[in-house]
Amino acid sequence: MPEKKITVPHITALKAKGQKIVMVTAYDYTFARLLDGAGVDILLVGDSLGMVVQGRKNTLGVTMDHMIYHSHCVARGAERAHVVCDLPFLSYQASKEDAIRVSGAALKKGKAEAVKMEGGEEIAETIHAVVSLGIPVMGHVGLMPQRVQQMGGYKVQGRGKDAAKKVLKDAKAVAQAGAYSIVLEGIPLELAKQVTKEVPVPTIGIGSGPHCDGQVLVCYDLLGMFEDIAPKFVKRYADLKKTIGAAAGAFAEEVRGGKFPGVEHSFLEKK
Ligand code: KIV
Repeated sequence: MPEKKITVPHITALKAKGQKIVMVTAYDYTFARLLDGAGVDILLVGDSLGMVVQGRKNTLGVTMDHMIYHSHCVARGAERAHVVCDLPFLSYQASKEDAIRVSGAALKKGKAEAVKMEGGEEIAETIHAVVSLGIPVMGHVGLMPQRVQQMGGYKVQGRGKDAAKKVLKDAKAVAQAGAYSIVLEGIPLELAKQVTKEVPVPTIGIGSGPHCDGQVLVCYDLLGMFEDIAPKFVKRYADLKKTIGAAAGAFAEEVRGGKFPGVEHSFLEKK
């Protein structure tokens, strides 16, 4: 594990070395510090913050200002991990100029080191325009949450021959356009294996099986804090919902019972 800051070349080299990439979402300074300290390679400031932080039903209402605010908070806590800022719905799709402007803002104001865009062939030119100006882009194909209305829910993508072909074509177009890595979300594991074999850049899977070059989970999911939705692909590595409930309950009991604060938690007049 390098002591130094993880960079784009370091991430792309991991695929050749056969070393798995670990990405976790983060939205604030404290989580960024904890995850960075745990050796996570990439902190993704995901637009999933619309759901887990802001309590929305989906990610569509998230704005670039929200992303910049949270990205800057995360960047302050990331000593070693590479920081990626997601571009929210309709901040980059309408024109290359929009994409360049918001990507630049993610780096200049949000202090991120790369941006992430959902989309396949149809945004390849946009990715190329942004990358050609020196801004690293992480792609995102398969299940694209920003298209939830079109999909009619969060449904596995790429099932069946034609749909699989489309996902493969999208991933290749995104890689060809210059993306340095690609998130593969919600596709069958056989397809993820094929994409991973056929694209030259690292794939980072979520709900796409074990053959991707890396894996990503939403931090609140892996810590067992978010239960509004429980997708099959989520593994909970802790039960912080229970821990937080117990700690807050104990605090409430001690305050109500006059046990907290004691003298040891109080200031005394100097003698
Ligand atoms: O917004 C997000 O958190 C994401 C990951 C789940 C890949 O896009």
